[in-house]
Amino acid sequence: MCGICAYKTKENAVKLAVESLKILEYRGYDSCGISLFKNGKIETIKSLVDIEDLRKKTESISSHLAIGHTRWATHGGVTLKNAHPHLSSSNKIALVHNGIIENYKTLKENLNCAFQSETDSEVLVNLIEKEGGSLIEKVISASKKVEGTFAIAVIENDELVVGKRESPLYVAFCESGVVATSDISAFVGNVKEFYILNDDEFACLNENKIEFFNKNGEKIKKNAEILPKITQNFKIFDKTHMESEIKETKIVLKNTLKEYLNSDILTNLNLPKKIKEIDLIACGTAYHSALMGAEFFKEQGINSHAYVASEFRYGKEILSKNTLYIFVSQSGETADTIACAKLLKEKKMHLLALTNTPNCVLNRVCDNVLPTFAGKEFAVASTKAYCCQVFVLYLFSLFLAQNLQDNIEELIKFTNDFQVQDFDRALLDKIYHYKKIFFVGREKDYITALEASLKLKEISYINSIAISAGELKHGTLALVDESTLIIAISTEENVREKLFSNLEEIRARGGEVILVSNFKSGGFTKVSLSSMCENLMPIVSIIPLQFFALRMCEKLGYNPDKPKNLAKSVTVE
Ligand code: G6P
Repeated sequence: MCGICAYKTKENAVKLAVESLKILEYRGYDSCGISLFKNGKIETIKSLVDIEDLRKKTESISSHLAIGHTRWATHGGVTLKNAHPHLSSSNKIALVHNGIIENYKTLKENLNCAFQSETDSEVLVNLIEKEGGSLIEKVISASKKVEGTFAIAVIENDELVVGKRESPLYVAFCESGVVATSDISAFVGNVKEFYILNDDEFACLNENKIEFFNKNGEKIKKNAEILPKITQNFKIFDKTHMESEIKETKIVLKNTLKEYLNSDILTNLNLPKKIKEIDLIACGTAYHSALMGAEFFKEQGINSHAYVASEFRYGKEILSKNTLYIFVSQSGETADTIACAKLLKEKKMHLLALTNTPNCVLNRVCDNVLPTFAGKEFAVASTKAYCCQVFVLYLFSLFLAQNLQDNIEELIKFTNDFQVQDFDRALLDKIYHYKKIFFVGREKDYITALEASLKLKEISYINSIAISAGELKHGTLALVDESTLIIAISTEENVREKLFSNLEEIRARGGEVILVSNFKSGGFTKVSLSSMCENLMPIVSIIPLQFFALRMCEKLGYNPDKPKNLAKSVTVE
């Protein structure tokens, strides 16, 4: 949800900023831009195409000071005027911003200057200009008038100031100077250690000095963190991030199991003595792994529920000290999930973060962390990280029920035998024309149906729903006719016959059925799955369905890595 970066270096900061933006592109790709300081004035270059276009436009420009932005539009359409960086009305200050200024309308009314864009960010840069003092003083006093969230980098003359509230921001020394970015994986220029900015903290960045300030403008000391190796990616390179990442699933599952078996991650957790219930809270794909986790905990005799974070945060759930609250998030920076964690932290509940990003905000809010070792995930549609979340939740459920030891061999066998299975291309050719696609299943297969349907919607824009097979006859069956494709997932032995009866009801109404299963086909066209550990079948069955979404997207001529209207990291409510 917008990525920002800033460099003040001895070498060309513009080039470094473009490199960072390339990595940050997953956070939004509606537009991008750079401001730099050269010959006593600020120069700004923007693109509505992509970072490569920005790279070409900035190739011949060099400066020791640059700020960059890649945008996911919130206020104002996708236009060059709304693209960041934004300049103050005197053109003396440039700003990049990730977040939302909630009171921007009131601030704008009081500012009395001409605005070029419809953005809340342009209001902020003008607000900063109107304050008095040095740049850091102006930024801090402006921030006091602002309601909402921000990670900002601001330049005026030769000065660079950054600051944040809610949205993430990290600063570091690089080989030739200093850098600030929204994500530690976007540091370029040989960074070894970095600093985490907390809410309402600010920094003045000079080539060989970083000074930190609190919201009162007082200097503060901060300790550096070692840059973790998770920022390195795995080694499968395909033509899209999404394809590479699905194919990496086998490596990352093996890696995750190895890390858990060879470390004290589980035994070092500080858990409540008696866990009566486990509630899982998440958004998007992570919510689906939370649903799966709830099934695993119930199978081990622990009552469990999964909640969508944006509902939980305003809901009326009854909290309990005997409940363990698990926050599932690939990025660890999803605004609604973090808001729930902060809410429960205030009430002194037991919190655990299940994340794929070391040092993320969610890890810092929660008492305990269960990491997934999926490596950096760039594609907006989450794939390998989802499989790792499901895997770790299963492992954790076994651990809590003291059954892990007895199942280690089976887990190792699973990661050894597991194969990444593409969707049958010949079958795809027969079904890709469908515009109405339902995914059905029962129990855990229903959760897989939810995730498969979300993948398809996200990247191919086909109208699709997921429904538990038993519910079809309570309404949705009315929509089934010859124009409907039903993809049924069947890996749960105990409800297999029931599901088949539901599929016959669909067939009787003219719907085309594709079965994704490790059981006999029952006369339906089938995508065959290998039979593996029943509880981990959701990982086996989702892979061809992730590929189904990907291949549909490719057939329709879309870019799976950049789905319209979406962003990987959702740092706004
Ligand atoms: C966005 C992404 C999804 C992701 C969801 C939750 O919507 O596009 O892929 O599942 O956010 O993200 P998180 O980082 O919290 O798992």
